[in-house]
Amino acid sequence: MSTGLILGIESSCDETSAAVVRAGREVLSNVVASQLVHSDYGGVVPELASREHLRNIVPVVREALQRAGVAYADIDAIAVTEGPGLAGALLVGITFAKALAVGTALPLIGVNHLEGHIHAVLMDAEESFADASPLLALVVSGGHTHLYLASRSDGDWQYRNVGKTLDDAAGEAYDKVAKLLGLPYPGGPWMDALAAHGSPDRDLFPFTQIKQKATGHTAPKLKREAALDVGADHTRFDLSFSGIKTAVRRYVELHDMQAAIIARTNALRDAGLATAKPSDATTIAGALAHFDQPTLNLIASFQNAIVKNLVRSAFQAAEHFGARGVVVSGGVSANRDLRARMSDFAADRKLPIAFPAIALSTDNAAMIAAAAWPKWLARKFADDTLEPTPQLRLV
Ligand code: KG4
Ligand code: ZN
Repeated sequence: MSTGLILGIESSCDETSAAVVRAGREVLSNVVASQLVHSDYGGVVPELASREHLRNIVPVVREALQRAGVAYADIDAIAVTEGPGLAGALLVGITFAKALAVGTALPLIGVNHLEGHIHAVLMDAEESFADASPLLALVVSGGHTHLYLASRSDGDWQYRNVGKTLDDAAGEAYDKVAKLLGLPYPGGPWMDALAAHGSPDRDLFPFTQIKQKATGHTAPKLKREAALDVGADHTRFDLSFSGIKTAVRRYVELHDMQAAIIARTNALRDAGLATAKPSDATTIAGALAHFDQPTLNLIASFQNAIVKNLVRSAFQAAEHFGARGVVVSGGVSANRDLRARMSDFAADRKLPIAFPAIALSTDNAAMIAAAAWPKWLARKFADDTLEPTPQLRLV
């Protein structure tokens, strides 16, 4: 008899995660082991990621079942991220899931990580969109910055990419600029917390540095009513974030900030803050002692420019394609400024908008199990030929 329980497994980057989710909605457990080992390198080291996944996968899956209070006999299917992501990291999750599927005689479901991010929102918010379709989905993380039109189709969702970053992902720009300023990895949450203590100079990073490159714009702009059928409209809303990163680097050089940055890196490490969580008020209070006001203003200006660019592209696309609602997900969707400004824009346009719970913003297996649910219902199963697809796209 079906229980509706799916065991999800995620290992595409630097989190090893397993979760048990009922009917794509109810999270019974969601265990996430974050790999702290990368913080010493200021970015994810693929070989270390694979090794950590190997070390973590068995205990993480066991704990997910324990916390959910279920056994394999209660599970309906095993879902695993098949891509996009790091080949060696994906391979650990997929190999484990395949072996488990054989051992337990359960069906296996391959899930696109990006669809997982979108389901991190839909699992809580699908009702708030009623039958609204298409939705404009912004997936913004350390590895991806994508705009999709998500349309309902036979109980499942179909996606079309209508924009993406032409260079760095937004989270990657956050992390690189954070590293440049002497902050621990991942720097996005630190920048978010510190930006609140600075005043943005709105002219410091003008839009010319974040080029809005319209590629393949051939179709005439559609009327709002006609835009729901977007099949022939290939207008794109691509983004770019490497210009602003370079602009921050130039600013740092021009203002001779390097010595202060090295001193700050050492001070944060010596104070034990390099591995602390910036969501903690004491941590931020401790870190602030090592920042001068111009640096905090620089962080606020950077955040202002990134958020403005994301909001502008997302709503230009939403308007152009006549989207009936907006979904924002991925690690950067935890950003407070992004949430506030996206919400304001949506309210002005009377569009429903939803974000994932903060714990489901960054990589996790609950979103993989949730995205697998419509596939389980449609019996879209993978077989033992399932393998990592590092460049997997959501089209
Ligand atoms: O979705 P995720 O866990 O992994 C990828 O699929 O990439 O996203 C991680 C990214 C990192 O770049 C991290 O710095 C960024 O999300 N991030 C944030 C915030 N929280 C996480 N960026 C800005 N503000 C935040 N509050
Ligand atoms: Zn992700």
